[in-house]
Amino acid sequence: MKHLIYILLLLGITLNTNAQNQLAIPPTIDNTNINLTLQNGTHSFFVGQTTATMGVNGNILGPTLILHKNTNVNINVTNNLGQPTTIHWHGMHISASNDGGPHTVIQPGTTWNPQFTVMNNASTMWYHPHLDEFTDEHVSKGIAGLIIIKDATEALLNLPRTYGVDDIPLVVQTKDFDANYQIVNHSNSDDIVMVNATVNPQTDVPAQVVRLRLLNGSSQRVFNFGFSGNKTFYQIATDGGLKEAPLALTRLQLSPGERSEILIDLSGMQGQTLQLMSYASEFPNGIYGATNPGMGSFMQLTGYNPNPLNGTNYNILQLNVVAQTINPVTTIPNYLVTLTPLLESNSNQARTLTLRPVSGGQQQLNGDFTINGVSLDMNTINITIPLNNTEIWTITNNSAISHPFHIHDIQYYILDINGNPPPAYAQGLKDTFLVPSGGGSMRIITKFEDFADDTIPYMYHCHMLTHEDGGMMGQFVVVDPTANIDDITLQNGFQLFPNPSKNIYMTASLNNKNEKITAYAVINALGQIVNYHKIHKNEISNMYSFPVFEYGAGIYHLKIFTEKNIYTKKFMVK
Ligand code: C2O
Ligand code: CU
Ligand code: CU
Repeated sequence: MKHLIYILLLLGITLNTNAQNQLAIPPTIDNTNINLTLQNGTHSFFVGQTTATMGVNGNILGPTLILHKNTNVNINVTNNLGQPTTIHWHGMHISASNDGGPHTVIQPGTTWNPQFTVMNNASTMWYHPHLDEFTDEHVSKGIAGLIIIKDATEALLNLPRTYGVDDIPLVVQTKDFDANYQIVNHSNSDDIVMVNATVNPQTDVPAQVVRLRLLNGSSQRVFNFGFSGNKTFYQIATDGGLKEAPLALTRLQLSPGERSEILIDLSGMQGQTLQLMSYASEFPNGIYGATNPGMGSFMQLTGYNPNPLNGTNYNILQLNVVAQTINPVTTIPNYLVTLTPLLESNSNQARTLTLRPVSGGQQQLNGDFTINGVSLDMNTINITIPLNNTEIWTITNNSAISHPFHIHDIQYYILDINGNPPPAYAQGLKDTFLVPSGGGSMRIITKFEDFADDTIPYMYHCHMLTHEDGGMMGQFVVVDPTANIDDITLQNGFQLFPNPSKNIYMTASLNNKNEKITAYAVINALGQIVNYHKIHKNEISNMYSFPVFEYGAGIYHLKIFTEKNIYTKKFMVK
């Protein structure tokens, strides 16, 4: 919408002088049976203008799902979009088959029925589409919703929790509109800010402690949240749930995919107004939202400038402080919950992942993108993780732009960023965080527990949706190496010879000559993966000979990965 904005600016008018709009509050569903219908619709972001959108149970965005820890939920997601998509429960610890990643496609006209137990603690999660190469389009057009998880511990704290009154959901997004007021996806010209799909929003808030649940649901833009007058607020939750204690802040940076819950004390302020803002002028170069998203002004990134949101401070939501409610919360608690961060000494495995765009220079924002040198290949499992592993991942960013790194299935703790402790607002459970540009790195620690699935992978990726669609995504499976020991015949998809072996090599040969071996893993009697090998593309066939001389005498399991299946067999080295 660059041209429109600049014509308005030339005329001395900005969109901010438009009438303010009442902030929409998404409806809630608080039930163990949840029906969601994905549909096409229209929405009026601008007075008198109609924009084609996608929504859940409505024209735009989706209902807020209220889930309760330790309960079972049964969700029906019906896809009436006329095109395939998926729905992913971002941040939740659930099995790969319920996770809604790109492999769990909901074909048009069909219903997907995930059923799972809510295992996460009280937190703010969200759901959004995740179809390979279409995530940005489906999210930009409007599919996204919040998930509020409640639990018994949070219920005992003196916190605001009346939805839409003193506990307010805020889905903050920027979008790009074309001259006909239609949403442009895969765009670097996102110049319209909205909250809950309301442009130029205002809302009443009572003169007491108010809780805001912030989601950065933008495709690319990072926000540097703060209030007008630099009013202090208190962060009480990160992505994965409550912090140990409220953290007093005047700024809170959230990149795409991240959430935070904050408290703001409006006691005694009745009649005043306050702006929730992004102080983007304070961003260093290298962040999408700064004047220069690359390392400096010499790096003009195609499509990014000019944009009135880049490197300036702008309003996001006006808060009009009104009378107190009947039982107001008026104090900020001193203490919230106890967290038990994982210790580095508990880690069984270290991995390194390097983020890099395929094109350098000014095309950095426009893909393709890689992790460890490869773009997403839906048929390749990039990482195989033994169930119950505690791992340290070092994510390095070899590009001029910071990338928000997200992992499915788990919450992580950030050990360090560029070798330093993470900022206080990133301490606690996280599933997404910005890896600094220009060779910067982030080390995280997490444990892969409860869910194993040999065939359906979880994803890790950059949460800038254009980068995710451009291939900055990889796949991991969590395998339970002990699970299949006694049902080998069920997976008897290949021959293995000689077995037992004293030889240097063993050969695996698939029964189905049309399948191809893409990788194998060798698992020892303790269930540890002693080798995982992806087969070079020149050697991919229905047969593979692999060395066994490197393993000591004993019983092992061999897992053979094909494009579609995983087969397991026991073998013995003498
Ligand atoms: Cu919020 Cu893999 O995504
Ligand atoms: Cu996710
Ligand atoms: Cu990225």
